[in-house]
Amino acid sequence: MNHLTRRNLIKYAAAVSLPLFLPSRVFGDDAPSKKINVGFIGLGWQGGSNLDQFLAVADCRVLAVCDVDDKHLAGGAAKVNKKYGDESCKKYQDFRDLINDPDIDAVAINTPDHWHSIPAIMAANAKKDIFCEKPLSHTLAEGIAMVEASTRNKRVWQTGSWQRSQTSFRHAAQLVQNGYIGKVFRVEVGLPGGHNDFLKLGKDTQDGLPPADVDYEQWIGPAEMMPFNPSRFHKNWRWNYNTGGGQLMDWVGHHVDIAHWGLANPAFGCGPDDAIGPLDISATMSFPDPKATWNTATDYRIECRYPQDVEMIIGVNGKARAGQQGSAPTAAPDPEKLRNGTVWFGDKGWVYVSRGKLEASNKEWLKEIREREQKGTLEVPLYKSPGHMQEFIDSIKSRKRTLTPVEVAHRSQTPGHLALIAARLGTKLQWDSKSQSFVGSPEANAMLSKKFRAPWKL
Ligand SMILES: NC(=O)c1ccc[n+]([C@@H]2O[C@H](COP(=O)([O-])OP(=O)(O)OC[C@H]3O[C@@H](n4cnc5c(N)ncnc54)[C@H](O)[C@@H]3O)[C@@H](O)[C@H]2O)c1
Repeated sequence: MNHLTRRNLIKYAAAVSLPLFLPSRVFGDDAPSKKINVGFIGLGWQGGSNLDQFLAVADCRVLAVCDVDDKHLAGGAAKVNKKYGDESCKKYQDFRDLINDPDIDAVAINTPDHWHSIPAIMAANAKKDIFCEKPLSHTLAEGIAMVEASTRNKRVWQTGSWQRSQTSFRHAAQLVQNGYIGKVFRVEVGLPGGHNDFLKLGKDTQDGLPPADVDYEQWIGPAEMMPFNPSRFHKNWRWNYNTGGGQLMDWVGHHVDIAHWGLANPAFGCGPDDAIGPLDISATMSFPDPKATWNTATDYRIECRYPQDVEMIIGVNGKARAGQQGSAPTAAPDPEKLRNGTVWFGDKGWVYVSRGKLEASNKEWLKEIREREQKGTLEVPLYKSPGHMQEFIDSIKSRKRTLTPVEVAHRSQTPGHLALIAARLGTKLQWDSKSQSFVGSPEANAMLSKKFRAPWKL
């Protein structure tokens, strides 16, 4: 077939009465053989790790990198050039230039949380496909706008919630979705608490001048202008609400995302997971002084009710499970404490999953799910990812939905956004997942968005 040109094939199709419709992908720019050109925005901790993974995907070419820190920019470009053995990697300091580069097919956004929505929406409007880190957005309103822009522009979107590309998480969600534990009535999600000094700086470093090789104005972007402080900068920005959301928001995009995945079959849970959401929510949190360098909640406990009588508890792992409602099962995996990860309880048993751990009330299920998946006999088989980045690149070519599209990521992080508002107001709130607004609380609805610093607009 190699010698077959488009013209020959059309002639051939006419001769043998084949349909004349040929998708442009077969011959055009999106041809399956074409490498997908990716531009990287943000090359810090996670951006560096994502870059390694994209560079390992054969049918992807990293064409450009962008960062406001010259050192990170140079390091990213050097890594790309080393991989391809040339000097071709383009370097941008302003993400708008990278997005407007006509050679770029897709962008990978690895910036701090306050810098996800604007580049993502601009990229969608520029018809680029999008890989964006979790948590999807800094406020719920940003998430809604990201879903809207991506959907309107028909973009392929993958979120950095890579747990969906791992076997143990898929098996856990498959066990729940295939009814092994029966009707789900409760889900518990254990997440880290406290703060973590990733750069070993100490949270109370002095305010000062930004390093000369950093465009700090562009780093702060739409957030409130604050003096430069190393403890609020690279990596540790997540401990201040100006730029991040603390441990809670850092982790909802992982373990709550998996909780929703398991619940996605309405026969046993309350899915689908691109529309799922709580009916009501209450939360208690321990907040440091709002003016502290690290002011995000160090401890939290969230209780929400989902459709079909599913109760969800999200709390700090290692904390006592005591104080739960009467329906709380005392069965394993740990009758005393919330464990890091996700556990679903149904009327026939439970399943627990976390990184490196998959357990169930009936050990036989773990073997059975593997075997049935291999034989293809599952009623609800979940998509087996070839790898999170590979799946994104494959989806760009086929235009199929990825494992973590924008609407799923948005719903996965919604309980985190709502809980922060419920805790700040100190009251239980009713939530309407369809209109994505609180019922009867204008005060809470006003907290769903945040004013951007000029000239940035959502
Ligand atoms: N999926 C995961 O497992 C995982 C793990 C860690 C972090 N993350 C997410 O990845 C994102 C980045 O986190 P991190 O820990 O790598 O942060 P980081 O501070 O280490 O890196 C962020 C990078 O973005 C750059 N940047 C900031 N503003 C920019 C702008 N306007 N234009 C271009 N570059 C800009 C910074 O200079 C820095 O190099 C966050 O959303 C975080 O939640 C995901």
